[in-house]
Amino acid sequence: MLIDPWGSELLEYEKVVNDFGLELFNKKLFPKPNRLMNRGIVFAGRDLKRISDAIKRKKKFYALTGIMPTAQKLHFGNKMVIENIRYFQENGAKTFLLVADLEAMIARKISLEEARRRALEFHIPAYIALGINPKKTFFYFQSENRKLTKLVYAFSRRITLSEFRAIYGKADPERILAALTQAADILFPQLDEKMPCIVPVGIDQDPHIRLTRDIVRRTKTEFGFIAPSSIYHKYTPSLDGSIKMSKSKPESCIELPEDPDSVCRKLKRALTGGRETIEEQRKKGGQPEKCIVFELHKQHFIERDDELAKIFNDCKTGKLLCKECKQIACERYTKFTEEFNKKFEKARKKIDRLKFLKD
Ligand code: TRP
Ligand code: SF4
Repeated sequence: MLIDPWGSELLEYEKVVNDFGLELFNKKLFPKPNRLMNRGIVFAGRDLKRISDAIKRKKKFYALTGIMPTAQKLHFGNKMVIENIRYFQENGAKTFLLVADLEAMIARKISLEEARRRALEFHIPAYIALGINPKKTFFYFQSENRKLTKLVYAFSRRITLSEFRAIYGKADPERILAALTQAADILFPQLDEKMPCIVPVGIDQDPHIRLTRDIVRRTKTEFGFIAPSSIYHKYTPSLDGSIKMSKSKPESCIELPEDPDSVCRKLKRALTGGRETIEEQRKKGGQPEKCIVFELHKQHFIERDDELAKIFNDCKTGKLLCKECKQIACERYTKFTEEFNKKFEKARKKIDRLKFLKD
C-alpha cells in the first residue's frame, strides 16, 4: 500500500477515535470521495451513514461551517474544511457559511463592525477562492440571525454547568454563550425543515459537536431536530514535526496566503525523513512516512495520486533527494498562491452580490 490510511506516524489518531467515541471514516460510503477522504486525511466522523444515505437517495441535507473573523489569514485547517464543504455542496448539500461575529466579540474582543469588515474584505472572498460556490451558499452574520436568539434561550434551559464543565473543562459565561450560539448555528436550518446536517471540523472542535448532539437529545419533544453528523480531518503538522501548525511558531507555520519566498525559506528547514548524508540517502532511500514535506504533498500540494505515488517511490529508492522534493513543494505553494490571489480578487469584486440571510 502506498498511501496508507493512517499515513504518517505523527499522531495516534486511532486513539482519538476511541477516546472520543467516533466512528472511523469509511470512504466506501461516499460517491467519488475527495482527495482528503481518499488519502485517509479525513479519518473519522459521527453518524455518517445518515449523510451517505441522503447523498445516495438524493434527499435534502445541509453542510455548514463558521468563519472566525480574526486574523486576516487562513491556515491549512480552514482549507480542509472548505474542501470538505465543497465536496458535500457538489453532492447536493444546501450550504450555510456563517460569520461568527458574536463569538469573535466575546471570545476575541473584536467589535461587530470590525468583524464584519474583515469577513467581507477577507474571509468570505478567501473561502470562495478556495472553492465554496457562492451561488449555492447562504451566508449570514450571527448577530443578524434572529432565529439563533430563540434557540440560544431555549437551549440555555437544557444544559447544566456540570455537563458543560465535563465537555469543555471550564464554564465561564462567554464560553457558554459562544457554545450555545454555535449549537444554534448548527441547528437553526431545521426550524424550517428537519434535515440531516454535516459539519466538517478539526478534532479540536469536537466538544461543540458533542454539546450540540446532547442538546438535540434534550430538546427532542420541543424541537425534534435530527442530530448533526460530523467529519474530522487530521491536522497539518508543523514544519518542526509537532502535531499542528500554530501561529505562535511562525517559522514552522505556513499561512494562506503567505509570500512564497518566505514559505520556500521555511520549507528548507522543515523536518524530513531524509538521511544524514546524500550518499546514505541514495543508498537507503528516505522515509516519507516520517516526513513533514511528504505530509504536505499528501494533504495539500499533490493532487494526482500517481504523482504522489511517484514521489513516495522515488524517495524510498533514493532517487529523489530532499532538496529537490522541497523545491517541488515550494513551486506548488507558489502556484497555489498565484491562483488563490486571482480568485480572491475576483470574489472580492462580487461581494455585494452574495445572498445574506437576515431575520
Ligand atoms: N467556533 C468556530 C471556530 O472557532 C466557529 C463557528 C461558529 C462554527 N459557529 C459554527 C463552526 C458552526 C462550525 C459550525 O472556528
Ligand atoms: Fe521527505 Fe521528500 Fe526527503 Fe523523501 S525526499 S524524505 S519525501 S523531503
